[in-house]
Parts: sequence; structure tokens; C-alpha cells
Amino acid sequence: MARTDPRFVCQSCGASRPRWAGKCDACGAWNSIAEETPREAAPRGLGKAKGRAIPFVNLDGKHGEVARHASGIAELDRTVGGGLVAGSSVLLAGDPGIGKSTLLLQAAGALAANGVSCAYISGEEGVAQIRLRAARLGLIDRPVRLAAATNVRDILAGLESAAPADIVIVDSIQTMYLDSLDSAPGTVSQVRGAAQELIRHAKRSGSVLFLVGHVTKDGQIAGPRVLEHMVDAVLYFEGERGHQFRIVRAVKNRFGATDEIGVFEMTGAGLAEVANPSTLFLNPERGPVSGAAVFAGIEGTRPVLVEIQALVAPGPPGSPRRTTVGWDSGRLAMVLAVLEARAGLRLGASDVFLNVAGGLRINEPAADLAVAAAIVSSYADRPVREGTVVFGEIGLSGEVRPVARAGARLKEAAKLGFNQAIAPRSSERASSGGGGEISRHDITRVDELLDLLLPASAAPARRQPEA
Ligand code: TYD
Ligand code: MG
Repeated sequence: MARTDPRFVCQSCGASRPRWAGKCDACGAWNSIAEETPREAAPRGLGKAKGRAIPFVNLDGKHGEVARHASGIAELDRTVGGGLVAGSSVLLAGDPGIGKSTLLLQAAGALAANGVSCAYISGEEGVAQIRLRAARLGLIDRPVRLAAATNVRDILAGLESAAPADIVIVDSIQTMYLDSLDSAPGTVSQVRGAAQELIRHAKRSGSVLFLVGHVTKDGQIAGPRVLEHMVDAVLYFEGERGHQFRIVRAVKNRFGATDEIGVFEMTGAGLAEVANPSTLFLNPERGPVSGAAVFAGIEGTRPVLVEIQALVAPGPPGSPRRTTVGWDSGRLAMVLAVLEARAGLRLGASDVFLNVAGGLRINEPAADLAVAAAIVSSYADRPVREGTVVFGEIGLSGEVRPVARAGARLKEAAKLGFNQAIAPRSSERASSGGGGEISRHDITRVDELLDLLLPASAAPARRQPEA
């Protein structure tokens, strides 16, 4: 018998339980459990009936090239692996207000200008509101089909009754609902069910489906996490609200590489592409100050230079504060501990603040050495020499380990006028083709970093590390 009694489903992880509770046992989220009525539960097991035997084939055989639509927005095309794949579904997730609707409306406008037919369906804004935005973005004359709707059955009927669209944008999946389900829009079963129907339509019709998903902190609305396994690509739209920079990051992509990023700047006339992100995260006019180090990083396939800022300040006795923006706080604690134990820096009683300039989030361990350089520089109140880039991973014993793609990092640095690199020893040289020469200080241990940054005469309060 099909079970249709209500059950309680955690809206952040999707676990179901028989009773309501304040906290989800499965993921630990608070206040995330909502009542839902499942459509019908599968009967237990398969029973006696036999299925139709599926045919098996070999790996080698015809596969055909995937057809891709270039959106005309290079930064977006890069993140999806060189264009949108027909029949695929893409989830664009991000905080409310970060610019998801703006980006997709701009993409629709650019695609429409290239003769690709686009349908934009909004469950959040009215047609007049979207027209207003399009006017502001200078897209009002583009042939984009527009609708304000939330019922998936009606949306699919609308899509099927007209000429097929190459691109279908659904903004946002949390506002869509299936009338065959009892639960409210935004609950896990509605989000899953609606997405499933839309994805099925995309596969059948060969159109590209874009789903917008809001990430919410309180877990009241089903997070895009429950959709990640259903779609072909997941893009996260990131950025600090107070900053202009927006980064689209591919975290899953069945048709391309992940870790690829596209960088945009939010302007009065929408999102502008940033072809050379390094220039955004550096501050060349300011001149040298203590507590800043330039990290030569890699985001996806692209080298990106960013400034890392540290402030080491005497704190109140007791528990010193350690605050990070744009970097992992556990990683900061490790770098501090290594500097203290292996290089003899006295940091135990100081507050340490770390900031990645421009609102970028760095996940690479290769930033360890740049973080250490910024901390040492602030601690000693001595600027790192102008024109220096730093990269390298730090191990617990104080060793500095080589990192991937050193050549590309050095090349980008040279291109932007840097002439010195503090980096782990490696055989890779700056790949030729950009800028001037870079002189390298190859180091193998963190205490060599201190020797480089703090000449013996200037070294303050540095005790001998325990042997
Ligand atoms: P929006 O795309 O509505 O965000 P989301 O769909 O992710 O919720 O973007 C909203 C923000 O973008 C809003 O705070 C205003 C800003 N914005 C601009 O700065 N310039 C523009 O041209 C547009 C259209 C929006
Ligand atoms: Mg929106």
C-alpha cells in the first residue's frame, strides 16, 4: 500500500523522520524540519514481476560531439567548460541579492542577440519588474521570451506549446511547485520534484536548463544542496555584498573542469566581465606597507594575484583573537603554530587578523607562505619588498613544499611587473612569454622566510626555536 501519511523532512539535508524535532539528528541543523506529504512511497522491494532486460554496449562506439551554445559572456562560458551543452541542466546557486538574476538575464540577452532562443521564467519578479531591469541593462530590444509563473505543469505546457527554446531559465527553483504535491514551495520534496520535471523536459527537448537556487543560512528553504546530484553542473555565485567583485565558481561539471572561475564586477549597468582579475585584487598605488604580501594563486586554470593582509596586534590577556576573511581559520591557526614552534616568532599573546583583499576566497594551501609572510611583516612592522610575490605550502614541521603550476604563477607575476618571488624550491621556471625576469628566492623551511624578510639587525623579539 502506498504510504501517504505526513513525515517530517529536514530542509537542509533531506533526512526524514517520523516526528517533528527542533534539531535534525542527521546534519545537526536547528529549526530545519518541516512537515511534508510524499507523493507516494515506492512499494517495498521489487516484488515478483520481471523487468525488461536492458541491453549492454561497449565503451568504444559512436558518441558524437556535444553541441554547445557559447553565451557570448566569456567569463560564464569558461566556467561551464566552453559553452552551454544542449540538454544539460545547470544550477546557479548563491546568496539572495548577489546578482544571479542579473547574470542570467544578461546571458539570455547576449544569447538572444546571437540568434539562440531563450525563455526566462521568473517566480520571484513580475514581468514589469524584469522589463525594468532589462531596460537598465540595455537589453530591452533582445528577443527573450519572458514569463512570470510558478506552476511547473503550466510552465512545461507553455514551453511545449511554443517553438522550442534553446535556453530555459527558471528563477528560482525555490518558488516553483508541482500541484501534485501537498507541501509548500521551497520544501525539499517540492524543490526536488519541480527540478526533476524541468530537468526531464530539458533532456527530452535538448534545451539548456538554468535553475537559480538561493542558499539560505537558516535552512528554512531547501538548500541547493539537495539538487546538486540531479543537475549536470553546479555554479556558485560568490562575493561579499560590500564588494563589487562577483565570482562564478564551477563546483561540479559533467561537461568540463571544475574549480574554474569567472570574475565579474557589479556596476550600475549590470555585471561587467573582468578579463584580468589580478589587477582587481592588487593595490599598486598605495606603496609598500607592513602586513601585506602578494600571493600568486591559481583559480581554476587561471593564475590570479591577490594581496593578503595581516594585522598582528597586542590583545587583551587571556584568549587572543584570530579572525580571517576569505581564508580558512583552521589553516591560519596552523600557520601561526608553525611560525611559533619552528621559526621562534612570539605570537601567542597577540590578536591576529587576516584578510584576503577584494572579497576573494582562497582555498589553496599554496597560500600558506604568503599568509606567513604577511604575518611576519606585520609582526615586525616591516613591509615586504615591493615587487615580491609569495607562494608555497607549509607543513607542520616547518618545511615549505612545492606547489603545482609554479611556472604559470611566476609568469603572471612577471607580466604584472613583479620582479622577485619567494617560493619553494622547484625545477619549474617562469614559462616564457610574459614580462621581465623574476629573481627567485627558493626556500625550503619557514625560518628562511624570516631570514629573507627580517635582516638580522632588524629582527625583533625572535627567540631561538627549540631544537
Ligand atoms: P539580483 O540579480 O536581483 O540578485 P539575485 O537574483 O541573486 O537575488 O541582484 C540584485 C543586486 O544587484 C541588487 O542589490 C542591485 C544590484 N544591481 C546593480 O548593482 N546593478 C545593476 O545593474 C543591477 C541590475 C543590479
Ligand atoms: Mg533574483
